[in-house]
Amino acid sequence: MRQGPDASSARCTAPLDWGTPRPPLPGVRRVEPDVTRAARARAANAEEMSGPNTNYDPVEVSALDPEQVETAVEEALAAIAAATSLDDLKAARIEHQGEKSALALANREIGALPPSAKAEAGKRVGQARGRVGAALSARQAELEAERDERILVEERVDVTVPVVRSPFGARHPIELVSQRLVDAFVGMGWEVAEGPELEAEWLNFDALNLGPDHPARQMQDTFFLDPVDSGLVLRTHTSPVQIRTMLEREPPIYIVAPGKVYRTDDLDATHTPVFHQIECLAVDKGLTMAHLRGAIDAFVQIMFGEGTQTRVRASYFPFTEPSMETDFVCFACHGDPGPDGCRTCGGSGWIELGGSGMVNRKVLRACGIDPDVYSGFAFGLGIERALMLRHGVQGMHDMVEGDVRFSRQFGREV
Ligand code: DAH
Repeated sequence: MRQGPDASSARCTAPLDWGTPRPPLPGVRRVEPDVTRAARARAANAEEMSGPNTNYDPVEVSALDPEQVETAVEEALAAIAAATSLDDLKAARIEHQGEKSALALANREIGALPPSAKAEAGKRVGQARGRVGAALSARQAELEAERDERILVEERVDVTVPVVRSPFGARHPIELVSQRLVDAFVGMGWEVAEGPELEAEWLNFDALNLGPDHPARQMQDTFFLDPVDSGLVLRTHTSPVQIRTMLEREPPIYIVAPGKVYRTDDLDATHTPVFHQIECLAVDKGLTMAHLRGAIDAFVQIMFGEGTQTRVRASYFPFTEPSMETDFVCFACHGDPGPDGCRTCGGSGWIELGGSGMVNRKVLRACGIDPDVYSGFAFGLGIERALMLRHGVQGMHDMVEGDVRFSRQFGREV
């Protein structure tokens, strides 16, 4: 047996005309007819029975009313036409085409109609939904076209406008040279060591056997930190890194220490109160001056080219014994200045590089290293001076002013 759509919960008194659904009559009192009892009885057995929409409420069938459908379409079309943005249109779509829209509701109700009424109602609702869908698509296309046009205008880029590019920087040549030297020594198995620029006076002088009367300790050379008895100075050379290293670790020691140093000089063509040095120290069993010469040769060849010869002259430094001044053969005239002389080396054929020597036994002892077991050598030099020689830089000003046009000549290594 087939159950009618209203059988289980009919609340209308008037029989419905399925062909032409009417809106519910306002104020109609719903009287439960006797037939409902039978319907309830049937509903009790509903689980055993087949039939669509047992929850169906025939009052809502009014959503299928042609006028209502037409009204829903008109409202939808009006909202679609009134949408001036894609967001508006989205809202209109949800309201008039979404699951809770009047037309969706009507569509759902078709299923509840008797087969005879389904086709007509389906056609009506289908056409209504089609009109709304078409209007939505058309408006969507219009609004998208408007948006694209607006974006083209608003986000227009003038590719012909000249570009303002900030020029590339370049690493400072002093940094480049230090790094190149450090890299070469690291390549030979040496380690990089560092020390602070604000240094203990004891490490900067005393431990290096620079006694209290040494001229370098006078005020004119050294920046002392206030108060003078603070025991701190701006390091005047990189040699205190030797002491720090020897105090910190056991031999064998092979270190290279680049860094800034300070002296109370005025800035002129050949002086600057802040400059750079690089220091090398080796402490091991059986090291001799031959090893020192070999290390200096390696250094000079990295800096000034392969085959550059060196020579040493006796000199004095409190922290080395014996001490030497190292010269290397002039890279311009190759040791042969000729009758016209040589501007680079002043005609001597040699250029002074820096100080060196065998680490003073007193210094080794001060650092807790037994000088009868170990020996060491050290050398140090100023990078600015090496750079001036190597590249013919005329004055110190060029090196401290930080003008990128100067730095760029040395390449743009990053
Ligand atoms: N520290 C010395 C200076 O600033 C240079 C120097 C000389 C360093 C001899 C050394 C060395 O390591 O053995 O003038």
